[in-house]
Amino acid sequence: MTQTLLRGRLLSFVSEPQSLTDSESYRYETDGGLLMDNGVIVESGPYAEVEAKSAADAVEIDHRPHLIMPGFIDMHLHFPQMQVIASYAANLLEWLNTYTFPEECRFVESAHAQRIATHFYDELIRHGTTTAVAYCSVHKTSADAFFAEAMKRNMRMVGGKVMMDRNAPQGLLDTPQMGYDETREIIAEWHGKGRNHVAITPRFAITSTPQQMEATQALAREFPDLHIQTHLSENHDEIKFTCELYPDAIDYTDIYARYGLLGDKTLFGHCIHLSEREADAMSEASAIAVHCPTSNLFLGSGLFPLKALMRRDKPVRIGVATDIGGGSSYSMLRTMDEAYKIQQLLGERLNPLESYYLMTLGNARSLSLSDRIGTLDKGTDADVVVLNAAATPGMALKMEVVKTLTEELFLLQTMGDDRAIVETYVAGVAAKGAL
Ligand code: GUN
Ligand code: ZN
Repeated sequence: MTQTLLRGRLLSFVSEPQSLTDSESYRYETDGGLLMDNGVIVESGPYAEVEAKSAADAVEIDHRPHLIMPGFIDMHLHFPQMQVIASYAANLLEWLNTYTFPEECRFVESAHAQRIATHFYDELIRHGTTTAVAYCSVHKTSADAFFAEAMKRNMRMVGGKVMMDRNAPQGLLDTPQMGYDETREIIAEWHGKGRNHVAITPRFAITSTPQQMEATQALAREFPDLHIQTHLSENHDEIKFTCELYPDAIDYTDIYARYGLLGDKTLFGHCIHLSEREADAMSEASAIAVHCPTSNLFLGSGLFPLKALMRRDKPVRIGVATDIGGGSSYSMLRTMDEAYKIQQLLGERLNPLESYYLMTLGNARSLSLSDRIGTLDKGTDADVVVLNAAATPGMALKMEVVKTLTEELFLLQTMGDDRAIVETYVAGVAAKGAL
């Protein structure tokens, strides 16, 4: 395959930044070269050195003066909710019952699922997201459409058919046996095909009977390497209803723990209102709390104590995500802008290095996939985003007075969206320009 050589300012993280001046936590190459071949990064470093190692017929793309970073990772969103975005509701449960559940019923139709899948990947690529962790609907058709389209685009995606057998419309319910059987079929058909990863996906404790939770536990035992994704502690009414449904559990987190679902591959969306006991339990299990700031604000769910969870004696692992369609933007830049504002309201500071770490290497680590994504290291997947901090007239004007890398990152996060994404490379191929 022909090699592609990108030239620009390379930025990637090697560890979690400890402060705004922690220059040990990242690699920054002001005149960098990134050589990609056959979907993989084969060389990364100073342009002159990388250029010298490239093949004579390598295609060179000059992205100067832009920033070249690992593609963004979105740790939690709902593929069947693209037409739920911007639904006017008072709170989570009203939003689910009024808009979300009826919309997800449509995904029983393959043609609808396939149409939305096309838009879904277009939108991710447009916003610089190269890996996402998604909930499909309860219908196997939706998972088939989701994974088939990911394979067509050669994207590394994580997803699963939602398991739910109560407290939703009939058209959205499976049974413990059906949820188990169909998840197994989806694993057999899609896991490890192309760059696909299947996740075991009980929607949340409200929509699963204890019998379905047992079926989920059986799947988790049979497939210990798979991710598990669900929701936890998002909204006060949700928490109250959940605890009423599982009266024997100590708290919401304990429900999942009782069914063997609290582990280091489990991604818990939201986790806004955890008690100290629950945060300890999450930490001890190395489970991941996935922060979805635009959704938390949009649905009025609450202010996620990101920094407080990170600096505990027993820290909780963190992911960041859009939570489309509770979330209001596909952009991880918009997402981190809202994350920043939530910490401001809590009297905390979230610095830009931490934000960009979380969107890339942090999320990759929380997915146990940092050997493949979230970095620009040689040998990893060539999933890359090119960013322009002067993408709009307003940004360009501010850029005139920006002096440092961290100021530039902060500007991109504060004002940037899909217009700041110059190009998105998926497995070494320019995907945004091809849309
Ligand atoms: N809890 C259970 N399902 C959902 C969902 O689709 N979105 C959000 N935000 N929370 C949920
Ligand atoms: Zn969600």
